[in-house]
Amino acid sequence: MEVIIQSSSQEASALGARLVARLVRRKPSAVLGLATGSTPLPLYRDLIRLHREEKLDFGAVTSFNLDEYLGLPPAHPASYHHFMRENLFRHLNIPEENTHIPDGLTTDVPAFCQAYEEAIRMAGGLDLQILGIGGDGHIGFNEPGSSLVSRTRIKSLTPRTRQDNARYFSTEDEIPRHVITMGVGTIMESQEIVLLAFGEGKAEAVAAAVEGPITASVPASILQLHERATILLDEAAAGDLRRSAYYRWIYDHKPAWQEI
Ligand code: PGA
Repeated sequence: MEVIIQSSSQEASALGARLVARLVRRKPSAVLGLATGSTPLPLYRDLIRLHREEKLDFGAVTSFNLDEYLGLPPAHPASYHHFMRENLFRHLNIPEENTHIPDGLTTDVPAFCQAYEEAIRMAGGLDLQILGIGGDGHIGFNEPGSSLVSRTRIKSLTPRTRQDNARYFSTEDEIPRHVITMGVGTIMESQEIVLLAFGEGKAEAVAAAVEGPITASVPASILQLHERATILLDEAAAGDLRRSAYYRWIYDHKPAWQEI
């Protein structure tokens, strides 16, 4: 695990965008795992800028999103279909047929989830997965208690996550209770993982994930077992880390040949 602390979310996101851009330049047919929420927005803005200004080409890229609310049609403003279209896809040259997001309107959830897993396999597996982290340590919508080897499936949101996401809905009743999410095991098979976390609201979850025991009670803690996981933080999200001085020293003294 490489923990990189930057002075702002902008700088941390720019590093994340560089990692994505490096992959896409080396492998134009890269398979990206994408996340939603407020966290990846600055990274997506940077990718859009790189596409416009440096001709970063997404024409052969494939993407799979982590999750979607069950019951929300793609046109719903709080759906992750809507989020991805507005905040990323319509600004890039990624072909629509190459983008995949779980279907919130599926009438056969188990069959859909199996097909989603199969589609990831058929695409050659995920090259790089972008993640946020919930205040409770979730990744994707794998809430505390999720099996650490789980696959794409239905999950029920915790009251805390529903509350955290209430800002996207007009009434409490409208906030979905169920989602489809890639499993922890699905995420862990990505060749590379980049987790971003910003703000003091994430500090406790970040410390538990990075320095706590590996436990299903903090699903993000499984990333300690991944060979190539980069944790990009701003100062506030790094606030509860015990070894932050060490992480900073490592980053500041990286030999030039060693890439992030
Ligand atoms: P956020 O959500 O980016 O909106 O904070 C992150 C998450 O719940 O995974």
